[in-house]
Amino acid sequence: MLVHAIETLSGLSDLKDSYLTKHQQNVCLYSAVLLKTLHLPGDLFETIRQSALLHDIGKIGIPNSILFRPGRLTHNEWEIMRLHPVTGAELLSNRNGNLNPFVNNEVINGVKSHHERWDGAGYPDGLKGEDIPLVARIIAVADAYDAMTSNRPYRKALPKEEAAKEIIRCSGKQFDPRVVALFLNTNVTF
Ligand SMILES: [Fe+2]
Repeated sequence: MLVHAIETLSGLSDLKDSYLTKHQQNVCLYSAVLLKTLHLPGDLFETIRQSALLHDIGKIGIPNSILFRPGRLTHNEWEIMRLHPVTGAELLSNRNGNLNPFVNNEVINGVKSHHERWDGAGYPDGLKGEDIPLVARIIAVADAYDAMTSNRPYRKALPKEEAAKEIIRCSGKQFDPRVVALFLNTNVTF
């Protein structure tokens, strides 16, 4: 029941952008492959899976003129785009601040923190290193890999090997080096 509710909610992004739904499904798949190597307890596995499926749900609040703009975003447009992790987290919480009964706190934290960077230069809170929830550190790598290996209207997909090189280049800066090492050991990248 819960899994169906999460999948339905994730699929709502299809109304806005079919790429978004596919992207969330791919990030969920890559996260799941990575998690298999970690031998995590079942509940944490499910938390990360759900968070990956919902990580960009806040983009349904971004105006189409910004979300679908092919060129470079202006500073103001970029500021609006950067709101999507917080919008997503708020969407999954209820109005008086108590957590929605069917989405747990760790799922919401993963959504909110998936654009934080290992070096502290990310958003929305500038969290650094292990202050970033593990859920979000895993989603960040899977998210970047899927974004780079997907065709978009404004650029062609990178080959898997090139995307993997870029993930390695950003290890210890954008990404948790241990998550990168695990990701490169999966059969996703090669
Ligand atoms: Fe995102």
